[in-house]
Amino acid sequence: MMKGIHSILVAFTLLALACSLASPFDPDPLQDFCVAIKDKDIKNGGRHPTFKTSIMLMFIILMLIMPKHARNTSNPLGSNVTVVDVDKLLGLNTLGISLSRLNFAPYGLNPPHTHPRGTEILVVVQGTLYVGFVSSNPDNRLFNKILYPGDVFVFPIGLIHFQFNVGKTVAVAFSGLSSQNAGLITLAKAVFGSNPPINPDVLAKAFQLDKDVVKDLQSQLWSG
Ligand SMILES: *[C@@H]1O[C@H](CO)[C@@H](O)[C@H](O)[C@H]1NC(C)=O
Ligand SMILES: *[C@@H]1O[C@H](CO)[C@@H](O)[C@H](O)[C@H]1NC(C)=O
Repeated sequence: MMKGIHSILVAFTLLALACSLASPFDPDPLQDFCVAIKDKDIKNGGRHPTFKTSIMLMFIILMLIMPKHARNTSNPLGSNVTVVDVDKLLGLNTLGISLSRLNFAPYGLNPPHTHPRGTEILVVVQGTLYVGFVSSNPDNRLFNKILYPGDVFVFPIGLIHFQFNVGKTVAVAFSGLSSQNAGLITLAKAVFGSNPPINPDVLAKAFQLDKDVVKDLQSQLWSG
């Protein structure tokens, strides 16, 4: 009897340990800051406690990686997102946040996408954005709004969302994300531009499309 309980306890402990090692969320900070070492583990919260740098250095690096001038939006979508995550700013390691700047050409679009590990809070600083997100099944309710400079909107973790510049001028917004590495899945690109391609029969049935249309979509260049 005792032996049985003992092995159940051991099994639970091992399970708990495995879960803590494979946590989908950011590691909690154990010290004021813990600058990551750029290696293959960085996106999983790789850390190096003996490596010290100053907060000042972090801000100098931030200014370098997010220059003040707008990014080039001459691409088919008419948008350009500059991401400052732990990959760019090692000092974000264990702090649970990252930042993006979104530049839009007139009628530029940040196409439907999700961040699997982060909620996003967006503030518009210039232009007019039509934004929205869709709740999960079964309702799939669209929450959408037209945003003007100073307006703030939240996209909950994991939900599909988009931002579209509906003004005649350029638009600029900033987004804070609740993860050092929120991740990005751009729907059209992931579905029709996967590598290798998904069997067209699957997509024809799933999207109620003709197989030739699916093949045509799969031959396009997808960005985002
Ligand atoms: C975003 O802008 C940068 C700098 O202007 C440029 O190098 C990059 O190619 C642009 N990205 C896209 C997707 O157009
Ligand atoms: C922006 O990108 C486009 C396409 O890559 C390029 O033709 C154009 O010269 C770039 N503009 C600037 C200001 O760098």
